[in-house]
Amino acid sequence: MERVHLSVCMSLDGHIDTDGGKRLVLSGEEDCRDMHAVRADCDAILVGAGTVRRDQPRLTVRYPELVGQRRERGLADHPLKVVVTRGGDGLNAEAGFFTQGGPVIVLCAEPALPALRARLSSVAQVLDLGDGGVHSILSRLSDLGIQRLMVEGGCQVLTQFLAAGAFHRLRVAVAPFMVGRAGAPRLAGPGPFLHGPDNRLRILSTRTLGNIAVIDMENPEPTLNRR
Ligand SMILES: NC(=O)c1ccc[n+]([C@@H]2O[C@H](COP(=O)([O-])OP(=O)(O)OC[C@H]3O[C@@H](n4cnc5c(N)ncnc54)[C@H](OP(=O)(O)O)[C@@H]3O)[C@@H](O)[C@H]2O)c1
Repeated sequence: MERVHLSVCMSLDGHIDTDGGKRLVLSGEEDCRDMHAVRADCDAILVGAGTVRRDQPRLTVRYPELVGQRRERGLADHPLKVVVTRGGDGLNAEAGFFTQGGPVIVLCAEPALPALRARLSSVAQVLDLGDGGVHSILSRLSDLGIQRLMVEGGCQVLTQFLAAGAFHRLRVAVAPFMVGRAGAPRLAGPGPFLHGPDNRLRILSTRTLGNIAVIDMENPEPTLNRR
């Protein structure tokens, strides 16, 4: 795969949402526009089923000029959407995630394939995700011709990509406030991360977009293309 770009927006205390109720808005307009430019440059956007259940994200390219640039390059208006799931609970064909924006690929564990195909094949391509590891997910997507992938969360999915070191770029937007809820998801949970104090990511830039701080980082040694 040519590029795997992880992207997330978190609070000062590292949370990417609150712990229930109304969805937490972390980002701002300028950061959102910049994040959509990354989306527009990708073939597909991947999220975990937890994010679909909680947010029903559209994962579209919202800005007409970015859609125009995709058209000029001969691309569809919106990237493909990929959701990974083991069991497929709570993924419904009528939900906005499946009915709006780009085509959807569901990568699921083999035992769930028949039921999910019966439920979702009218709105998505439902495929076996292999052993379920990050490298298996990436090789499935490469086989489908996806070369530039954006990974937008949530916590479980980001934890696995970060732990495996299976990414080229990491974009972290920091919103200047605290969430302060023990049950709120974080950017990443505990994990055997490749990057620690003695093996750091490289900071490419820090930017202020509106009232959001954006840190763009590079992984000097991505562990891509391992099965
Ligand atoms: N601020 C941000 O930038 C941002 C972005 C995205 C999401 N979020 C937030 O993140 C939260 C959701 O995070 P989360 O950790 O609960 O959920 P998540 O990572 O989005 O999804 C977890 C689910 O994905 C599936 N999954 C994960 N890894 C898998 C693998 N290797 N193979 C197959 N399936 C796999 C499983 O689905 P099944 O249970 O269906 O088997 C798992 O329960 C929400 O609150 C959302 O608002 C924030």
